[in-house]
Amino acid sequence: MSSTESRAFYDEYVERQLRVGVNRRHEAIRDFALRFGLEPHHRVLEIGAGVGTVTGLLAAELDPDEGGVVGVDLSPRSIEAARARLARVPHARMEAGDVLEMELEGPFDVVVLPDVLEHIPLELHPALFGRIAGWLAPDGFVLAHYPNPHFLAWCQEHRPDLLQQVDQPIWADALTAAAYPAGLTLEYLETYAIWIEEGDYQVALFRPRSAVDDFRAIEERPGVVDRLKALTRRALDRVGGSGGGGDDCGDGDPAGA
Ligand SMILES: C[S@@+](CC[C@H](N)C(=O)[O-])C[C@H]1O[C@@H](n2cnc3c(N)ncnc32)[C@H](O)[C@@H]1O
Repeated sequence: MSSTESRAFYDEYVERQLRVGVNRRHEAIRDFALRFGLEPHHRVLEIGAGVGTVTGLLAAELDPDEGGVVGVDLSPRSIEAARARLARVPHARMEAGDVLEMELEGPFDVVVLPDVLEHIPLELHPALFGRIAGWLAPDGFVLAHYPNPHFLAWCQEHRPDLLQQVDQPIWADALTAAAYPAGLTLEYLETYAIWIEEGDYQVALFRPRSAVDDFRAIEERPGVVDRLKALTRRALDRVGGSGGGGDDCGDGDPAGA
């Protein structure tokens, strides 16, 4: 399937996307972005932004003066609809183009791929991740959201009517094989359920390999039992008529600190 055919398909898809509007999947993507570290001052790139549903949710979390989101999509009609939806959101900018070809000015703190990877042919994923790595800030992250590949494979066999033109399962081995050579390492992967009991979606978090360049031992912290013991000791000291008489006073017990 050529990108011209994909563009035509998604131009036709606009009415459906506008009819559906913001749904639980879009909200879940926003929630994952926040959980992974989206901050108000961040510059966000959203790839495959469609009619701007996730774009609007992300923009609402960003400071209009310091942060912003650039949403790109292959379909000019989707971008037109997104611009109309987000006309009052000046820190959301929409650009039409093929992410594999367009020029974008980074760096971005966050790159979000909301249900788009499965629609870009797998053989193009290494080039796609190469481009993403080039746009990403050294301490940035990539959030990829896509259908659970087991569910999508099941749909291919049993419910092809639910599928779009290019709709390929994104298996974790293929995903990491495309991302790792670009220097993006998988930090988190979760299969979870929105509408299908067994889990209909996956979310993956990638960071640049260089983001972790030092490893430090976790400092020992006192456990709950130690803290309770120290509290009890202090309470008993007080009841016992203090005057500074407790024999463990100032013993430097870290659990009592
Ligand atoms: C299933 S829709 C998802 C839309 C929206 N992100 C959402 O979550 O509702 C996939 C979108 O990816 C876009 N897309 C597909 N291939 C693309 C490419 N090579 N570059 C940019 N956008 C692309 C399509 O035009 C379409 O709008």
